[in-house]
This record gives sequence, C-alpha cells and structure tokens, in this order.
Amino acid sequence: MFSRYRKTTEARAVKPVNAVPDSTTQPKPAATAAPKQPPRASDSKSKGAPAKAAPSDRAEQRKRRLNALKSDLHKRLLENLNLSALEHASEAELRSEINTIVAESLSEFDVVLNSEERATLNQDMFFEVMGLGPLEPLLQDDTVNDILVNGPKQVFIERAGKLELSDVTFRDERHLLRIIDKIVSAVGRRVDESNPYVDARLADGSRFNAMVPPVAVDGSLVSIRKFKKEKLSVNDLVRFGAFSPEMALYLEAAVATRLNVIVSGGTGSGKTTTLNALSSFIGNEERVLTIEDTAELQLQQIHVGRMESRPANMEGKGAVTQRDCLRNALRMRPDRIIVGETRGEEVIDMLQAMNTGHDGSMTTIHANSARDGISRLENMVAMAGIEMPLRAVRSQIGSAVHLIVQASRLQDGSRRMTSITEITGMEGDIITMQEIFRFERTGLEPDGTILGHFTGTGLRSHYADRFKRWGYDLPMSIYDEVRQGR
Ligand SMILES: Nc1ncnc2c1ncn2[C@@H]1O[C@H](COP(=O)(O)OP(=O)(O)OP(=O)(O)O)[C@@H](O)[C@H]1O
Ligand SMILES: [Mg+2]
Repeated sequence: MFSRYRKTTEARAVKPVNAVPDSTTQPKPAATAAPKQPPRASDSKSKGAPAKAAPSDRAEQRKRRLNALKSDLHKRLLENLNLSALEHASEAELRSEINTIVAESLSEFDVVLNSEERATLNQDMFFEVMGLGPLEPLLQDDTVNDILVNGPKQVFIERAGKLELSDVTFRDERHLLRIIDKIVSAVGRRVDESNPYVDARLADGSRFNAMVPPVAVDGSLVSIRKFKKEKLSVNDLVRFGAFSPEMALYLEAAVATRLNVIVSGGTGSGKTTTLNALSSFIGNEERVLTIEDTAELQLQQIHVGRMESRPANMEGKGAVTQRDCLRNALRMRPDRIIVGETRGEEVIDMLQAMNTGHDGSMTTIHANSARDGISRLENMVAMAGIEMPLRAVRSQIGSAVHLIVQASRLQDGSRRMTSITEITGMEGDIITMQEIFRFERTGLEPDGTILGHFTGTGLRSHYADRFKRWGYDLPMSIYDEVRQGR
C-alpha cells in the first residue's frame, strides 16, 4: 500500500537502522526467510506454559509476550514511518498509518490478537511514536497529579493526595531512558552519565525532574508534577475543605491590604496552589512580578511579569538564579513581588524587598509549622553567608513577614490549611506570633478519613485596624472559637 507517510523502499535501503541484519528490521517475504518469531501472544500453550496456569499467571505471561512484541513493533514503526512527513499529518491519518503497519507486522510475525488487545496495542504504539510511551495515558488522566518513576518496573502516581502503584511499566531501562531523552531533548536539554540529572518545565507547563544511572542506583528516577490548566480558586479550596469561609474572608483582607505572606508546607502540601489562589485577591491596578524556578503560577491579573530562573549550561555558564531575577525585579518598578519558593540565598533580597516598600509580597517555604518556617528563614540567611547577629536577622524577619499560612497534606490525602499565624513583633530575641485560625482534629473514620473542623483561636487579628482602615471591616465573630464536638 502506498502512503506518503511511509519511507520508500529505496530510502529504507540506503538508511539501514541496524548494520547487523535482523529479521525484525528488514521486512522479508515470509516465504524466503523465516522471520524472527516474537513470542506468540495468542498461543499460551506452545511455550511450555503449565497446562492449567492460573488465570492471573496466564494474564501475566500474555502481558510479557505483548511487551516483547511491542519492542519489535516499535523498531518496525520507526523504520517504516517517514517522520518528517508525519509532522503535517492529522492524528487520524497517523493513527491509521500506525494501525496499518502494526497489522502488517502482526500478520508477518504470525501473531493473532483479539480486538481489545489489538486496540490497546495500536494505542500504545501511537503513544510510543508520537508521545511519551507508557507515560502518555497517565499524562492524559486528569485525576493524576504526580507521576513518580522508580526505575522501569515501578511507576507510582498520586491521586487525591494519595500515592498508589500504577500498572504502568517500561520494557526495560533502555526504554525508560529513551522516553526521558525524548522529553528533555524536546526542551533543549540533555541527560546522560556525565550530566545525570535534569530539572525542566515541559511544553505543557508540567514540572519534570529526572536522574539517570549510575547516580540513580536502581534505574532512572523521574518525577512529574502535572500542570493543571484549571488552577484551584479560593472558592474551590473552600469547597474542598482546604480552609473555611471565615479564613477566606481574613485572607482576602490580608492580601488586599498588602500584608507580606509566606505559605509554608511540606512537599506537595499545596503551597503553590494556595499562593496562586491568594494572588486572586491582588488588585488589577498593581504591577506584579513573579519569580520561579519552574513557572507554575498563573495569575489572573492584567499586569503581571513572569520570570523563570535558569540553570547553568553544559560548560557551567549562563545560570540565572532566582536571586538574579529578584535583584533585577527590584529595578522593574514592581508593586508586589511573588517568589514561587524561597529556598536559598534569594531570601536576603526577598526580606529586603518586603521591608522596603514592596508590601504585599508573597512566597512559599518548605517548613512544618510557622515557628519552623521562621527557623528556616534564619538558616537560609546564615547559609547565604551573611554575617549578621541572630538578633538582627530575627528583627529583619520579624518586620518583613506579617503572616504565615501553613499548608499540610494529612494522612488521608486531604490538603488543608492547618494554621494561619501572624507575626506580631519581637520580645527580646524572640519573634512573637499569634495563631488566628487552625484546623482542629477531632477523630478518625474507620476508613482513615480525618475528622475535624476549622476554628478561630479567639484572638483578634493584630492587623484588624489596618483592615478597617483599608475598608475591610471584618466581623469579630470570624475569630471566634468553634466547638464542634463529635
Ligand atoms: N486543597 C487541595 N485539594 C485538592 N488538591 C489540591 C489541593 N491543594 C493542592 N492540590 C493539588 O495537589 C498537587 C500539589 O499541589 P502544589 O503544587 O500546590 O504543592 P506544593 O506544596 O507547591 O508542592 P511542591 O513542594 O512539590 O512544590 C497539585 O496537583 C494540586 O492541584
Ligand atoms: Mg510548589
């Protein structure tokens, strides 16, 4: 069958893929040479399988055979498809072309599949050629947040805050490496033995990190945080029980009246999501600059300048750090600066910005509580090599940061804002704080669901007068303690 998406026989003849003749790479008439026989997917008895294998064994064997077949088919497809012509083909044309080659190869290999297996195989081959192979269904599944690959045979996913082992596997490490290579080369990066890890943002905005052997001991490690087109809004977060309507009212006042806010939390606790949602309270008339290592924030305001730091190139040159971006941002007349995550030396400039007229700036830090967050900031300042007495560092932090919002991922997978704490000043060498809202845990359902409710602590906000002056006259009842016994 003629197709413009196929390489011509001539083209194939002058560009053999393998120097060593291989029956799977050189289509041969069945009569002249016995084709390499890939395992027969349809034939479970012929390979010495136990006559009465348990159904799960049979399914396993069949899966293994299909996998072996896929490897051969993939080679076949790459050799037969004219990849440059494919760039302009529609998805339907591509699928039909791939299906045809798969069907021809199957008949040549003398493999019979049922219609469901054939459909799955066609789909897998389409993903293999045009997408990211076994990862593709996970990337397309909107319920999956994170994809974590630990070597070729173990792919974990995170759904609704919980990690689970998926049934996705790669054929072997080479297959996994090929997919990693496809991902990183598409964004102009490289990863190999001499450059064994890479951090990148994919074309769709997802955050991607890979580390390959030998640094990754048991096979390549990949982590993908999928980009959500629809960011969770404040209303969504209230609806999902991440915080209460009272807390939302308070946070609106805090952000609108330009308090400096830090969102603190552990890995994947919802820090970036919270920061993004809080940013919706920023007015449209303000000029906001965002600085991130991987651009994830999606602000809705009209006046937003986005910056993304950049690692050094292969020669160790050209790095642009978050600190560089931040210093430059200060010359760009920002009203507010938002740093995606403060984790290093940029802390100095961030504190300075917060202290010098860029009120309303926000960032996230990796910490387990408001108090822990403050110690992290102190440590970051110390690590940045600034020789400053601890008291001076603390007073810088104490006057820069107004509010710490603690995000947590609880054991049942739910993400909640477990505490909102205000910094009220200094007493001697100690930064003083007061918790205004918290999540009160009351019990555990038999299925592991955590029971609890949000409550005020009974303390009125230190900034209540400021809120009032700015037109946010919050009812005092929002600070009340809620008793909700169960
Ligand atoms: N309250 C929530 N309810 C449901 N899903 C949430 C909630 N908050 C965050 N998520 C989802 O959890 C995932 C992780 O969130 P996010 O990226 O905000 O975490 P993070 O703390 O910034 O993580 P990291 O430490 O990796 O930067 C995202 O897919 C996000 O959509
Ligand atoms: Mg984050």
